[in-house]
Amino acid sequence: MSVLKITSPEKVLEIIARGEPCAVPTETVYGLAASIDNPFAVRQIFALKERPVNHPLIIHVSSIAMAQRYAYFTDLALKIGHHFWPGPITFILPKKDTVPHEVTGGLDTVGIRIPSHELTRQLIEQHGIPLAAPSANKFGKTSPTSADHVLTDHHHQVPVLDGGPCTVGVESTILDLTVDPPAIRRLGAIGENDLQAFIAVFGHSQTPTSGTHKAHYAPSTSLLLSDNLQADQIRLEAKGLKVATLAQMDSPTYARELYAKLRNLDALGVDVLIAERPQNDSLGQAVLDRLNRASYGSTMKH
Ligand code: TXA
Ligand code: MG
Repeated sequence: MSVLKITSPEKVLEIIARGEPCAVPTETVYGLAASIDNPFAVRQIFALKERPVNHPLIIHVSSIAMAQRYAYFTDLALKIGHHFWPGPITFILPKKDTVPHEVTGGLDTVGIRIPSHELTRQLIEQHGIPLAAPSANKFGKTSPTSADHVLTDHHHQVPVLDGGPCTVGVESTILDLTVDPPAIRRLGAIGENDLQAFIAVFGHSQTPTSGTHKAHYAPSTSLLLSDNLQADQIRLEAKGLKVATLAQMDSPTYARELYAKLRNLDALGVDVLIAERPQNDSLGQAVLDRLNRASYGSTMKH
């Protein structure tokens, strides 16, 4: 086993306290974490991810009391937080001065959430300071949902706390609470349906953020989204192309397995991947959103 695959949270605490980044598990995807009070470590995260420095990072906290030390909460934000946290939803809120601008890419707002993965939540609680953590993939690529994915993406240069495979599998819902009405900026496991008890009308979020770029989450092989897997497979194979397919599953399974499957299919060296359209429930829509971005630019070629 790689020495960089760590199973002891204490060791990770030491790494983070030393000011070095370490990948950590969450229920959604693995994050590449640094203590928000260490600008050098935060800068390293951007460098390791090859991410533009004006793209804000989410900060991860272990309790609502801790969250309130870093962001201004409205009553609505508190209510939604109490209901869904710990869990796969990130709020955009006005930031307090306790959050360095390096973390937010210069913005006066901050993305904040309490992850539900026990190891990471306990880690943050013991560290006592939030961890800034984007998804641990390289910019624009498929997010990692296992410790091995992280080691592969970073060529065994970054330590990772092994928390097993992620149970949700797609990144958190991003709810912008700085606009009125609130707006969903990124689809995730918690959808409009789930939030309707708290938010009657949803607004539209204008500013594009990194996970909302048209091309994102991309495998290296061309990817085609399909309503009829068999017909598309036959059509492409008739053109002499080597094809690999990803068949529809129930939405929780599709979300959980999506990135691992895309990585495995990508490694086959075929000419084109075909993914079947997910079901039209809220998690299915989050999967579809990732597939659309992952396939952006691919479809024209076939
Ligand atoms: O599930 C997740 O959210 C994972 C795990 C590790 O928590 N994290 C994640 O982080 O997906 P990242 O950086 O890959 O995606 C966060 C998105 C980015 O598109 C970023 O631009 C946006 O959130 N974001 C963060 N802070 C923001 C802010 N203050 N205003 C607007 N967008 C923000
Ligand atoms: Mg990401």
